[in-house]
Amino acid sequence: MAYDKRYWDRATSFYTEWGLPWQALKDGYVPVIVELKKALGDLRGKQILDHGCGAGKITRPLKSLYGAEVLGVDPSDNMIQEARKADTDGRYELLKGDFSWPDNIFDGVMSNWVFVDIGSIEEMDTAVREIYRVLKQGGPFVMLVNNEEYIGKRTTTYQNGIPGKTYNPGDEIMVTYFKNGNESMEFKDYYWPTETYCSVMERAGFREVTSYVPKLNPRTIEEIKVLQSEGLFPDVDYQALVDENPTVIIVGKK
Ligand SMILES: C[S@@+](CC[C@H](N)C(=O)[O-])C[C@H]1O[C@@H](n2cnc3c(N)ncnc32)[C@H](O)[C@@H]1O
Repeated sequence: MAYDKRYWDRATSFYTEWGLPWQALKDGYVPVIVELKKALGDLRGKQILDHGCGAGKITRPLKSLYGAEVLGVDPSDNMIQEARKADTDGRYELLKGDFSWPDNIFDGVMSNWVFVDIGSIEEMDTAVREIYRVLKQGGPFVMLVNNEEYIGKRTTTYQNGIPGKTYNPGDEIMVTYFKNGNESMEFKDYYWPTETYCSVMERAGFREVTSYVPKLNPRTIEEIKVLQSEGLFPDVDYQALVDENPTVIIVGKK
């Protein structure tokens, strides 16, 4: 399935504004940072690739709060323009086909809500092989995707798919994002079981591939506190976070 650039270009402003505070946890971003820290320790000065960075929502905090040297890449020029506007001295590059970087240069790679957007196994294989190639030996790759148990269930921020409908691997699945209670926008994703993402990672050579549904736990609360001490995410709704677990984290090691 060819990448639909027009689609993400159109969605840029909605998606950028949609960065509500507590959503960062519910949508799995904090657990991604926790995984990077678990594998790499202090992220200060670490070279991290944010693959499919969009408008840089997580690229920025990783740089400003954790001191990582993050490079954000995305095939949507609108997204890259927005990212650059919000972070004028940040590093953002437009992704055109294969990666242009040499082997073994990144300490870690994260890819948040990107593989749900890829409609063929071949395209996923190509992307993950490239990610593997540019990672240093032992480096972590953290992928954030949908929890398939949540298909058709409305969460505070989005609904992934139609209730009661059965989806087969690779099927298109419409996701409705809600903003400010009543505004919404539909995005087209693809349904893949967690197992598919794990197999893609293993085929590319990743070791110790594991997946889990992130839940609010003491480590996560600690992360929230760090972010809050920096003035971010003041309104975290802990109960909603405990009740809703719509994401899956997949981690592998080169
Ligand atoms: C749901 S957005 C997530 C953006 C960002 N990671 C975030 O969490 O805010 C998905 C992004 O993936 C990008 N994308 C889609 N297919 C891609 C691919 N094959 N490689 C890299 N990025 C891709 C889109 O352009 C879009 O910006």
